[in-house]
Amino acid sequence: MLNNKNIILGVCGSIAAYKSATLVRLLIKAGANVKVILTADAANFITPLTLATLSKNPVYTKYFEEETGVWSNHVELGLWADYMIIAPASANTIGKMANGLCDNLLSAVYLSAKCPVFFAPAMDLDMWKHDSTKANIQKLQEFGNVMISPNSGELASGLHGEGRMAEPEEIIAFLIGTIKNNLPLAGIKVMVTAGPTYEPIDPVRFIGNHSSGKMGFAIADQMAELGADVTLISGPTSEKTSRQIRKIDVMTAAEMLEACKSSFTQSNIIIMSAAVADYTPAQVSLQKIKKKDEEFSIALKKTTDILLTLGQLKTPEQILVGFALETTNEEENAVYKLKKKNLDLIILNSLQDAGAGFKKDTNKITIFNRAAEKTTYGLKSKAEVAKDICTAILKLYKA
Ligand code: CTP
Repeated sequence: MLNNKNIILGVCGSIAAYKSATLVRLLIKAGANVKVILTADAANFITPLTLATLSKNPVYTKYFEEETGVWSNHVELGLWADYMIIAPASANTIGKMANGLCDNLLSAVYLSAKCPVFFAPAMDLDMWKHDSTKANIQKLQEFGNVMISPNSGELASGLHGEGRMAEPEEIIAFLIGTIKNNLPLAGIKVMVTAGPTYEPIDPVRFIGNHSSGKMGFAIADQMAELGADVTLISGPTSEKTSRQIRKIDVMTAAEMLEACKSSFTQSNIIIMSAAVADYTPAQVSLQKIKKKDEEFSIALKKTTDILLTLGQLKTPEQILVGFALETTNEEENAVYKLKKKNLDLIILNSLQDAGAGFKKDTNKITIFNRAAEKTTYGLKSKAEVAKDICTAILKLYKA
C-alpha cells in the first residue's frame, strides 16, 4: 500500500517526537519516500540529523535555511505528497491547522497539500480534554482529515489517561487499513489468467506458445493496486508479482479450466489474458518418443474454450473481459469473439502493430465494449496499458 508513495511526516514539539524515528524507519521499510518537516519545538526533542539519516532526505525545519541559502517551497512540498501524516500532532499545531494559521513551514505545507491528511495527537490529559482541542479536532475531521486516536496510559506529566500518541506500528497499520478501505476496488474479487499453457506430448516435450505472461501480471498488479482481492491463474512463466496476490500455477489448458471454474463464481471481475492452447495432443506418450520415421505427426484434439465456458455461466453482475490476438481482419474478429463469448469488454492486440504482442515490454490495444464501440490507445509500456485496461473495467463496474 505504501510502496513508492510520497509521504510528508510533520513532527511537532512533544516528547512523543522521539517515536517519529521509528515511524520514519517503518515507512521506509514499507517502500515509501519520506520527507520530514520539523517544527522549531520538535527539533528540541529529536535531531534533524537522526530523521534525515533514517528518511534518506534532508529534513525541513524552516522556509529558508540561512547556512545553505536553500528555500523550501511549501507549495511544491504539499503537491509532492501522496499522504501527509502529522505525528505527533500537538494541541498548538492542531489549533493552527483548524484555523488556517501558517506561521511555520509545517502549517504552510498543510494548507498547500491536496492529499489525504492523517494526524496523531499527543498531549497531556487536560489539554486533550479541553473544549478548544475538541472543537479543533472536530473541525479537522469535518475538513476530511483523519485522526489516529491517542492511547491511554502514563503521560509525560506523570498523569495517567488519554493523550499518548499511538505507537508507530499502530499508525502504520491504521494508515494501510484506511488507504485499503478507500481504494476504488476494496472488497472486490478479481480473477486474472496469464501466460501460456503447455500441452504435453511425452515426458520431455510439449506444445506451447510465446506468451510471457507480462500483460496478465501487469493487470493483476494494477487490480491489486486499486484494492481488489486478486486471484492470478498463471501458466508457466518467469514473471513475478510483488503484490499480495493469490497465485495459482497451472500447466495445461485443462488445469487452467479447472482452476478458473473453481474461482469463477466468487469473482466479481474476470480478466482472461492467458494464451490458452486451442489444441492438445489426443494421446500423451508415457515414454519419450524416439525418432524413427522421416515424417511424424501428432493427433490433436480441441481444448475447452475457457472464456466461452465462463461466458455461458456468467451472471449479469459479473464483468467478463477477454482478449483477442489477431493478425488479419482484427476488429471484425474481435467483435465476433466479444459477442460469441458473451463478454463485457474485449481487448484487441494486433500483431500488425509494431511494439505489440508476445515477450515485448510494450503493447498497443483497442478496447471494444458490449455495444462494439471502440477506444484506441497509443503504444505504451505494459504497466501503462494495464492501467488503461483497469480504468476501462473500473468505469464499467462502477456504472
Ligand atoms: N481463450 C480461452 N480458452 C481457450 C482459448 C482462448 O479462455 N481454449 C481465451 C483467451 O484467454 C482470450 C480469448 O479466449 O481471452 C481469445 O483468445 P484467442 O486465442 O485470440 O482466440 P480464440 O477464441 O482461441 O480464437 P482463434 O484462435 O481462432 O483466433
